[in-house]
Amino acid sequence: MNAPTAADLGELWADGYTVVPAVVTGPLLERLRTEADTLVAAFEGGHRGEDFWSFTRDGECKPVLYRVHNLEQQPGAPLAAGLFATGPLHHLAESILGCPARARVIAMIVKMPHVAAAVPWHRDRTDAEPGHAINLSLFLDDSDASNGALEFVPGSHLLADDADVDRAREAGPVQTVGALAGDVAVHDVRAVHASRPNPTARPRRSLVIEFVPDTTEAP
Ligand code: NI
Repeated sequence: MNAPTAADLGELWADGYTVVPAVVTGPLLERLRTEADTLVAAFEGGHRGEDFWSFTRDGECKPVLYRVHNLEQQPGAPLAAGLFATGPLHHLAESILGCPARARVIAMIVKMPHVAAAVPWHRDRTDAEPGHAINLSLFLDDSDASNGALEFVPGSHLLADDADVDRAREAGPVQTVGALAGDVAVHDVRAVHASRPNPTARPRRSLVIEFVPDTTEAP
């Protein structure tokens, strides 16, 4: 896999996010895509559970899947469970954090073709110091401004814990961050971010794992 370069790390700690290209490639990427297909197909086929988060569009009755939470616990997700336990994302997180790291949570983000909504501007959490908790998003599909790319306010991870998210976004600038399948977008959990809707025919799925230094106590 690719290790983050010094430039990647400089960007991450200055802006609050960066993209490390081609972290997962080849057969593993293909098998993760197939596993994601199967989970989405199960939901479309009627599978429901408290970890399958969905919304319903105005005037329609068919729910739209947008997140599979606690992914490592789902039947049919052994590869995601493996990534949560060990492997390339752990190595990447440890090289970024500079110490042994622990995965706290894994989820699959799904932006269904034609119907996926935008994710509003938010910070994942602010009860960690800058540089002490990071989210790694492994893209299973190419993502660009037209099908649900991430958007960030550079430097916003350094804002105060109670900073107003909408004011930060209005002050800007706002940077749209695309990624190719296999790339990992890394962001500080404090960064002000959002993602765009997906009106295209192309799915946009990512596996998101939060990592913290192994010495961090559970909040
Ligand atoms: Ni987020």
